[in-house]
Amino acid sequence: MRDSKLGMGMSAGGGTRREKWIRRNLPTVADLRERARRRIPGFAFEYADCGVGLDLNVRANRSALDAVELVPRCGNDREDISTEVALFGRRYAAPLGIAPMGLPSMIWPGGELALGKAAQRARIPYTVGCVGGCSIERLGEAAPDVLWFQLYRVARDDHKVGIDLIKRAKQAGAHVLVLTLDVPTRSKRPREMRNRLAVPFQPGPRTIYEVATSPAWLMALVRNGQPDFVNMGPYAGSGRGAIADFVTRELGGSFTWDEVKRYRDVWKGPLVVKGVLHPDDARRAVAAGVDGIQVSNHGGRQFEAAPAAIDVLPAIAEAVGDKATILFDSGVRSGIDVLRALALGAQAALAGRPFLYALAALGDEGADYVIDLLIEEIRTALRQAGLRSAGEAGSLTVRHPAALQF
Ligand SMILES: Cc1cc2nc3c(=O)[nH]c(=O)nc-3n(C[C@H](O)[C@H](O)[C@H](O)COP(=O)(O)O)c2cc1C
Repeated sequence: MRDSKLGMGMSAGGGTRREKWIRRNLPTVADLRERARRRIPGFAFEYADCGVGLDLNVRANRSALDAVELVPRCGNDREDISTEVALFGRRYAAPLGIAPMGLPSMIWPGGELALGKAAQRARIPYTVGCVGGCSIERLGEAAPDVLWFQLYRVARDDHKVGIDLIKRAKQAGAHVLVLTLDVPTRSKRPREMRNRLAVPFQPGPRTIYEVATSPAWLMALVRNGQPDFVNMGPYAGSGRGAIADFVTRELGGSFTWDEVKRYRDVWKGPLVVKGVLHPDDARRAVAAGVDGIQVSNHGGRQFEAAPAAIDVLPAIAEAVGDKATILFDSGVRSGIDVLRALALGAQAALAGRPFLYALAALGDEGADYVIDLLIEEIRTALRQAGLRSAGEAGSLTVRHPAALQF
């Protein structure tokens, strides 16, 4: 087991009393979520947890993943299971990455840096969001070997800001550029609205009460300051709320294929498009010159009528073949979910909320804890399935009743 700050693989029996307490009481991502709910202000929890509309698409992701059955093989058992994978020419410790997220520091102040350091220690990809709360330069120092960078469309001045951001990301050491294609417009998330989510915070009786009754979160806020979209600082002008205003005003629309080609020309490293749900779009992306396709419905946060991402994965994997790397996200909560995605054609799975729940539940050390927990679950899942390495997952027999045919 690697030497993390908490140093606790799920299988390890030793450790301090606190470590034992954590292992006993928080053995799954669902347990982390429940503790997160009680430990941070309601507006922060709702921001992380909610989906678009009535959360139908969040539930669709869960039930579709649950319905995927894998037939285990026997007679081949070995102890030295390898979870390692190669993605875009680099080796990572597991087929698991951290998906891009705007403002993890809203859920746990300082969360971006904690995730970056933990991903570096664990050697798994960390996709930093362009609207994250920590600068790409600082994260480049914290996570030099595992950093990926995600960009939303900022079209003003002929994409001057977007192009500058990817140059900064390159300079900071980001290896992969991820263009998000599934946010043509802001989605309506009633749970955020009801909880008066705002950046910067709008102090009102309810917000003040929620913050005051979340002392660990408040202390982290005092240490790290108010979350803001700091990468946009150089372009936004000064004054309270200037950066948030800039983000509201200037970020928007979804990249067209011509724009993807343009970024392809500027970005010389591996390029991924995220949010693809139709095999024809995957083919278009390959024709535009991308290296990877991230099959995703944004964790159920954008289009409520979209299919569960896992249900379109096999058709996209088949359409793309070996012309691009297939990544998957949306609903991954366990090592078994990662194995389901690999068995259906992905080379790696990414997750979003599990990392936020862990930060909220345990503070900075939660990042190490949940990475260890998930990698250990992946190792167990591979062994249970009768596989020796993550790369063999495609050989499993799968029952996938809701797979979409196009
Ligand atoms: C709080 C939050 C913020 C997010 N912000 C972004 C973002 O800035 N850019 C992006 O491409 N995806 C964003 N996503 C979507 C994730 O990258 C990912 O697709 C999703 O979280 C995966 O689903 P899961 O949370 O069920 O694992 C966000 C997700 C969450 C939960």
